[in-house]
Amino acid sequence: MTLSSAPGKVYLFGEHAVVYGEPAVPCAIERRARVGVERRSDGKLRVHAEDLSLDGFTVEYGASADDRPDVDVQESLLTAATQYVDSAIEQVREVTGKAEIGFDVTIESDIPLGAGLGSSAAVAVAAIDAGTRALGTTLEADELAERAYRTEHEVQEGQASRADTFCSATGGAVRVEGDDCRSIDAPDLPIVIGFDGGAGDTGELVAGVRRVREEYEFAADTIEAIGDVVRNGEDALAADDVEELGRLMNFNHGLLSALGVSSRSLDTMTWAARDAGALGAKLTGAGGGGCIVALDPTPETQTALSFTPGCEDAFRAALADEGVKRLE
Ligand code: PMV
Repeated sequence: MTLSSAPGKVYLFGEHAVVYGEPAVPCAIERRARVGVERRSDGKLRVHAEDLSLDGFTVEYGASADDRPDVDVQESLLTAATQYVDSAIEQVREVTGKAEIGFDVTIESDIPLGAGLGSSAAVAVAAIDAGTRALGTTLEADELAERAYRTEHEVQEGQASRADTFCSATGGAVRVEGDDCRSIDAPDLPIVIGFDGGAGDTGELVAGVRRVREEYEFAADTIEAIGDVVRNGEDALAADDVEELGRLMNFNHGLLSALGVSSRSLDTMTWAARDAGALGAKLTGAGGGGCIVALDPTPETQTALSFTPGCEDAFRAALADEGVKRLE
């Protein structure tokens, strides 16, 4: 078995606006997807996913590329995980030139699915890394990020940014602007995450922002204002000014909310975090449901969130300095 892990991420700043060329700052967190691969002699792909938890359930799921189960709402996310693996293994075949290769693939993840924490990118990065290594090729982080981006691009039918996959491959904090992704310095942030148990539909939310941006000039201004918040956030990161980071995250959440991508549960968790003394709190990722990210060096925010109606899970997540990890 060849085993790799890759981290999920939160957006400290800039989701949605990044689609229109503004900068964004995602940062990798110590919640990981682990993908193990073993070569098969028959050229087939078999995917087994454990611990992919959704709505608090742990689901056991097995499928091969030519034997898919019916899809319902819950299972569609799990099926998506299988699609990412299919597509990632295609990248492995392409980069190694071994078109006929087959694998048994096992996925384990403690990143909630489709909830703004970059679960699919982490699966894609870990799968490509494990698959290529099993065939004797070790990719550099940049190449790994590029191949994982192609995976997301294919599965998400063109709707993917490079942010998640780059962040997952390299770890740490990242600055993204257009196709340009680079690592930036960040202090060890006191990150707390609240998860409402749900997920947002990224494609629909991105389309919703596009509509308001076309209809209202002030929505276009709101997107530019998010870009300004991000630039201030970069300065605060460089100065290790965590209090200023928190204030700017609050600002960023308000602007995302104005664009219509928050939800009652995300707003409720954001306010619960602020009431508990968090330095700042915002939704992370596409929104609509899923996760918020808050900054709090004390235990108060995590405790408060765990008693907040609509918050299904609250946990701390250290910044992941290391991206992909080669475990076996
Ligand atoms: O929810 P996530 O982690 O897939 O993030 C989506 C981020 C968006 O900016 C809304 C879309 C994108 O592709 O950048």
